[in-house]
Amino acid sequence: MSANSFPTNNLAVVTCGLPYANGNLHIGHMRTYVTGDTLSRSLRKIGQKTAFVCGSDMHGTPVAVNAWKEGKHPKEFALSWHEKYKQPFLGMAIEFDNYGHTDDEVNTMLTREIVKTLDDSNHIYDKEILVAWDPLENQPLPDRYVEGACPHCGANARGDECDDGCQRHLEPGEILNPKSIITGNDAEYRNKSHKFFRISDFQDYLQGFINRLEGTANAKNQPREWIEGSLRDWCITRDIDWGIPYPGAEETDLVLYVWVDAVVEYISSTKQYSDRVGSATFDWESAWKKNGEIIHVIGRDIIQHHAVFWPAMLYGSGYTEPRAIMATGFVNLNKKAFSTSRNRAIWVDDYFSEKLDPDLLRYYLVTVGSLQDDIDFSWSNFADKVNGELVGNTGNFLYRSLLFAHREYGGTPQKLVSETVNKRIQEAITEFSDSINKYSLRSSALAGTKLAQYGNAYIQQNEPWKLKKSNPDFAAQVIRDCLQICKAVCILLSPTMPNTTQKIWEEMGESNSIHQVTLIEALESPPISFNSPSEPFMPIDDKKLKDLNSKLDQRINHNSTMGNENSPSETSNLNRISFELFQKLDLRIGKILETKEISGSEKLLLLTVDIGSETRQIVAGIRKFYTMDDLIGKHVVVATNLEKATIFGTESDGMVLAAGDSADLLTTHGDSSPGERIR
Ligand code: 2FM
Ligand code: ZN
Repeated sequence: MSANSFPTNNLAVVTCGLPYANGNLHIGHMRTYVTGDTLSRSLRKIGQKTAFVCGSDMHGTPVAVNAWKEGKHPKEFALSWHEKYKQPFLGMAIEFDNYGHTDDEVNTMLTREIVKTLDDSNHIYDKEILVAWDPLENQPLPDRYVEGACPHCGANARGDECDDGCQRHLEPGEILNPKSIITGNDAEYRNKSHKFFRISDFQDYLQGFINRLEGTANAKNQPREWIEGSLRDWCITRDIDWGIPYPGAEETDLVLYVWVDAVVEYISSTKQYSDRVGSATFDWESAWKKNGEIIHVIGRDIIQHHAVFWPAMLYGSGYTEPRAIMATGFVNLNKKAFSTSRNRAIWVDDYFSEKLDPDLLRYYLVTVGSLQDDIDFSWSNFADKVNGELVGNTGNFLYRSLLFAHREYGGTPQKLVSETVNKRIQEAITEFSDSINKYSLRSSALAGTKLAQYGNAYIQQNEPWKLKKSNPDFAAQVIRDCLQICKAVCILLSPTMPNTTQKIWEEMGESNSIHQVTLIEALESPPISFNSPSEPFMPIDDKKLKDLNSKLDQRINHNSTMGNENSPSETSNLNRISFELFQKLDLRIGKILETKEISGSEKLLLLTVDIGSETRQIVAGIRKFYTMDDLIGKHVVVATNLEKATIFGTESDGMVLAAGDSADLLTTHGDSSPGERIR
């Protein structure tokens, strides 16, 4: 790591927290990716050689649980989301140099190699711990398979994190009153041997690291409490058959905890980039094993993983430590937290379907607040910012200057730019570079906005349209100055609004890509001739704003009246299945012939069901809602071709379908007889 200012002679790697390949992306996710993309473009602007990498986070229970909900294998499920993510990234002009995924060969190999190195150097040990277990299903319940109360703050939490409460990472065995999310059964804790990474070996190292770490204040300060307290070792394996198998000769059924291989993808993705472009262009080993400037852009909920676990893993296996961590605050919607399960979010796809320019959202996300603060999104705030700063200020200045120049001079008047304006542009360049060195993208982008403000005042004060007659030489000078300002504004804003600035750049007659030029080009003359410009930004008018608000209100109100996570509109985010796949499900009419209690269970009944060709023994969790007599003779819907399951020690051969929390049994209203297929 180098403590020198950017640009340095080393290679920089900007990474973004990996999205779990498990569902649609919303604009809260985009805050991280837009920040990473703007940062890497800004670093290049100031002459820093930079790779921007990321990938999909394929493993772990966040993926496995969602795949299970859709009846898919996690691999197939995760790969399909991985593929789908290309579109929103492309649409938002987020240009990774490499976007991989954690389940590929490179990441599997590097992850196992790193863990083996840590194991060989005795930083990993075995320990018996309590893991949550579903006694009825006889299966382990790692991480998100279990819910309960957070032991620290009491909030309702998932197995490995308290995301509605204190945000702490939870170790296996810690969650209180655990329950299986699959069956709703009370879980119990059982002993099992797992692998632990002895983070405590790295206490001294981490204390030094946190003092060197650059980035946002939250990332530098929050980990001190953990590092300076007693560092707890970290369980790095899980009982689940989806993930990277623990390396080594010994037989083990354990896979690595998703957080181990997720972070290694930062290295793997850089290696894939290097392998593609050649090490002469970008040498991943130089970055990750010598002196790279590694900068992680993440959400503030995952600071601990990046500022404690990850640097210890890197240091223990001989890799370069991060130079900086930039941890973004959350994005709220109309002052309340996003809730993906309640569809209370602005989905990236919704934004695109409104035909809104992605650069507007990029600018909003980057400039609406400091990076580490939570920001609020409302269509009204968004429209105010677009109409005020972009249309009213920046767009207005660019358009009026370029239009006047084109009409009156066919392009740039043949003059030198004035000293005053040259100096003002240099100040903006310095402000931009200083801001990047302070990891403040808001300030670097606003350096462009403020320069446009200056330009507007300059043109307004000098009124070249009046001078044209009274003092044509001075009119030409004013426009010459304005064009230099236009060029500089475009360059300064190009990391934040890559598409719009490229378009203006071309309209100004520039022939190369704005993304290839460095800041210093802002002082070079614009082309002598150019064509008529177009307006860079379109305002969001009252009608559009009303429409955006009413669509959002309808969606949110609809979901809150439905009041639960399984509301019908939740289906709009589901992965649709093919008709062919649906046809594989054998649903038939069944008639309940007999019912029996299952000893020891308050919830379950054993049903004997006639399904036409045969009778089936089926266990159903309906005991609380029906008397046994009510059920005899009832027509129900049975999924007949499910794998047999053993529930509470009793074999169940099929499933009776029921709706909602009170197990409202599905039935028929005509005269269909047992065995009739449902289509
Ligand atoms: O919290 C998350 O969404 C994780 N998928 C982030 C992983 S970041 C890193 F480790 F790669
Ligand atoms: Zn908590």
